[in-house]
Amino acid sequence: MSVEAESQADTPRAPDGAPLLEVEHLRVLFPVKSGAVVARTVGHVHAVDDVSFELREGETLGIVGESGCGKTTLIRSLVRLIDATSGAIRYRGGDISKSGRKELEPIRRQMQMVFQDPQSSLNPRKRVTQILATPLKIRGVPKDQIEAETRGLLDKVGLHAEHLNRFPHEFSGGQRQRIGIARALALDPKLLMLDEPVSALDVSIQAQVINLLDELQDELRLSFVFVAHDLSVVRHVSDRIVVMYLGKLVEVSPAEELYDKPIHPYTSALLGAIPIPDPNENRARERPIVGGEPPNPIKPPSGCRFHTRCPRATEVCQAVEPQLTEYPGGHLAACHHPQQVSAAEIASAVRSPASPLSSGEEAPQP
Ligand SMILES: Nc1ncnc2c1ncn2[C@@H]1O[C@H](COP(=O)(O)OP(=O)(O)O)[C@@H](O)[C@H]1O
Ligand code: SF4
Ligand SMILES: [Mg+2]
Repeated sequence: MSVEAESQADTPRAPDGAPLLEVEHLRVLFPVKSGAVVARTVGHVHAVDDVSFELREGETLGIVGESGCGKTTLIRSLVRLIDATSGAIRYRGGDISKSGRKELEPIRRQMQMVFQDPQSSLNPRKRVTQILATPLKIRGVPKDQIEAETRGLLDKVGLHAEHLNRFPHEFSGGQRQRIGIARALALDPKLLMLDEPVSALDVSIQAQVINLLDELQDELRLSFVFVAHDLSVVRHVSDRIVVMYLGKLVEVSPAEELYDKPIHPYTSALLGAIPIPDPNENRARERPIVGGEPPNPIKPPSGCRFHTRCPRATEVCQAVEPQLTEYPGGHLAACHHPQQVSAAEIASAVRSPASPLSSGEEAPQP
């Protein structure tokens, strides 16, 4: 992250006084149907369950958690590709969670998605020039300027004019993702929602695409929500990181602090899963492994959802949902037995307004 981006991240409020994006107690439940003749709703998948956070102007917020924890559902609901069951989404201070199609149109242009699999997100029958011309036309770019704008977009993402007449299958995975990014940029967005943008790429290519995103963020003053399933990818791009487990936020922290001082046992487990380049060091390190499979999101565990897999779990964890609690330095965690915090820090900790409503109003109990 550049010095400029860092200083932007330090500014907690956008110029108009509101964060760029505010998410309050957002829930997305998917109905589970059963019955051969008449389908009845027999339960719900708790994909996103009472999630609250802010994204600041110019910030990169990493969202991390195992596959199936609700990351894609969360960001798709933020751009209103999925309707939330309840909760509020405010973009520049205005609630967009119930906005109709027409009202949403200009806001949707400002919030663009980049998908995990560029192969399936690009129309295989269209040449790059057509793929990029469509959003430019939507933006109202005059016909005679489309070609120049298309070349400009390719240049921005490190591709060349000779690529314009090729089809997506004629590119490598990394190049296809560059086209996906160019397509998102064509609408002149303020915010990119990047859904595992490098997960499908080779490690060497991942770094190139991440560097490109970093440069574009500085040049175009973009904000990013950057989703990944492991902590190694988001480390160097994120200002802050949100850790999700089974639809809930379990930890929110400035990026470096999360790696130095994880408070939640699930975050430690995710950190333990990051490979270290030196194999000897890797073997020597005590690796906290997340044992077992994630529980069923239709019937999430009582209390703390992580209790079925947590090495620190006690009786209270099974019975009482932990509150998202504010520790020093803008670090939040939802755990009855927090790690790496002193008794004094626990005593002065307070319940975060981002805490799920279901976790009660009482002060946190260490
Ligand atoms: N359209 C849908 N209908 C029913 N369940 C869904 C749907 N989309 C996602 N889910 C479920 O919601 C949960 C979260 O999925 P997802 O958001 O894709 O997780 P992630 O992106 O973290 O892998 C999973 O249990 C998934 O099976
Ligand atoms: S609340 Fe209990 S089960 Fe949940 S993470 Fe903390 S120690 Fe583990
Ligand atoms: Mg996903």
